[in-house]
Amino acid sequence: MTHSNWRRRPLLGALAAAAVLGGALPAAAEGVVNVYTNREPGLYSATLDEFTKATGIKVNAIFSEQGLAERIRAEGENSPADVLITVDIGRLSQAVDLGIAQPVHSETLAANIPAQFRDPDGRWFALSLRARTVYASKERVKDTAIAYEDLADPKWKGRICTRSFQHQYNIALVAASIVKHGEAKTEEWLRGVRANLAKKPSGGDRDVAKDIAAGACDIGLGNQYYVGLMTNGPPDQKKWAEAIHVILPTFQGGGTHINVSGAVVAKNAPNRDNAIKLVEYLTSKDAQRVFADVNYEYPVRAGIPVNPLVRSFGELRPDPMPVADIAKARAKASELVDKVGFDR
Ligand SMILES: [Fe+2]
Repeated sequence: MTHSNWRRRPLLGALAAAAVLGGALPAAAEGVVNVYTNREPGLYSATLDEFTKATGIKVNAIFSEQGLAERIRAEGENSPADVLITVDIGRLSQAVDLGIAQPVHSETLAANIPAQFRDPDGRWFALSLRARTVYASKERVKDTAIAYEDLADPKWKGRICTRSFQHQYNIALVAASIVKHGEAKTEEWLRGVRANLAKKPSGGDRDVAKDIAAGACDIGLGNQYYVGLMTNGPPDQKKWAEAIHVILPTFQGGGTHINVSGAVVAKNAPNRDNAIKLVEYLTSKDAQRVFADVNYEYPVRAGIPVNPLVRSFGELRPDPMPVADIAKARAKASELVDKVGFDR
């Protein structure tokens, strides 16, 4: 899921005219590409307009928060879907697991996307990066650096808030810990973090900032872009953002945990060439700037400036772990979270 409030945002530009909620799209057609996405329309509309202007290829888009990969699988050989654009390595690897992704070999994508952030077999490509950061109370937490491992330190007893650890953002973090430290150490870490919780896991990342603002806890986990969205959001959310400072945590001996948004070219894409052109376009400098400035994400492509607010969190040092390795440990991560009763 991207953000729970996207349905209330207006559809903009030419994309709006093309958007069909729950409807059917024509399959193969010259100068057309069909996109299925659960990302916010506001994030993509201008970019897709620019793509159409630059290439003459019209973009049809279907938006749905849930079930797009399953829908493509159910549509089978007759699926009009060319490109699936979504967030989280969990959803990208689900597309692979459902057999709806096709391998793509593109020199442009290989040049624009570091190898760590694309499938070695070309079945998914990251478009933007999302750091799992620590939100910390400005008043009560003076630390400016922290390791993920430190969250299990008893010094944080009764002070941590988080959304469910079965949520895909936390599952990816736990999976990364498994890749780095193994299952036994990760289980121990989970037990330690759980022992430090101020309250039962609930809500979303924004609620962590809300809880810190209300004094219910002192630190918690959250993706960096929510801080930009809260800061420039409704007044109550602005207050939550003002109550926290953001620390870019690192794994001991490593860097900050990175998750991705990304794109998949559908296995039965009727407009395959246009699909690849669109994914390539999404890694262009112009498109990458939109991820940084509209959604406060880190561009996947090197050399694109991050938004000044995000830059104020410090310099991002991504953990070097390939995101594809994280995908493989997700099932185990979910088992461990369950085993330690993290959410109970
Ligand atoms: Fe999100």
